[in-house]
Amino acid sequence: MKKLLISYWSGTGNTEIMANCISEGAKNEEVDILLKRVDETSIEDIKEADAIALGCPSMGDEVLEESEMEPFVESLQNIIGKKHCVLFGSYGWGDGKWMRDWYERMESYNADLITEEGLIVNNTPDADGEEQCKQLGKTLSDKLAG
Ligand SMILES: Cc1cc2nc3c(=O)[nH]c(=O)nc-3n(C[C@H](O)[C@H](O)[C@H](O)COP(=O)(O)O)c2cc1C
Repeated sequence: MKKLLISYWSGTGNTEIMANCISEGAKNEEVDILLKRVDETSIEDIKEADAIALGCPSMGDEVLEESEMEPFVESLQNIIGKKHCVLFGSYGWGDGKWMRDWYERMESYNADLITEEGLIVNNTPDADGEEQCKQLGKTLSDKLAG
């Protein structure tokens, strides 16, 4: 079985909803899904995964959450290799700069980003936002099962 890891940080639950929808959309008999908060995610989980979805909202001033997500992302630098990867997260009042910066950073780590940009949703995902997350999950599992 191919392994999909969905790991996220969420303060008020919006990015967590996105993670749950990605997991729902990714359901596939050929894919083993591991859905975890970032503080429960180990480097072993990353190493064992064939594809990784990473989620974090825009925090600080257009940056990743600094105490858990930022060091976690930093630690991926030498192990993310060419694993299939997607990024997602919720934002409030900005224009998505945190996600553009994060995407470029993951490119510089040689992650195989399978979408052209990270998926961003304003605040709590509405029905359309939830659907986009489910589609992203399906894209990931199709990539693994295919
Ligand atoms: C401390 C803090 C800093 C934030 N900074 C930004 C920001 O720079 N840009 C932005 O668009 N939203 C910002 N937000 C809004 C969050 O990204 C938004 O509320 C998001 O939905 C939170 O997702 P979560 O429920 O997964 O924690 C900030 C929120 C907090 C609490």
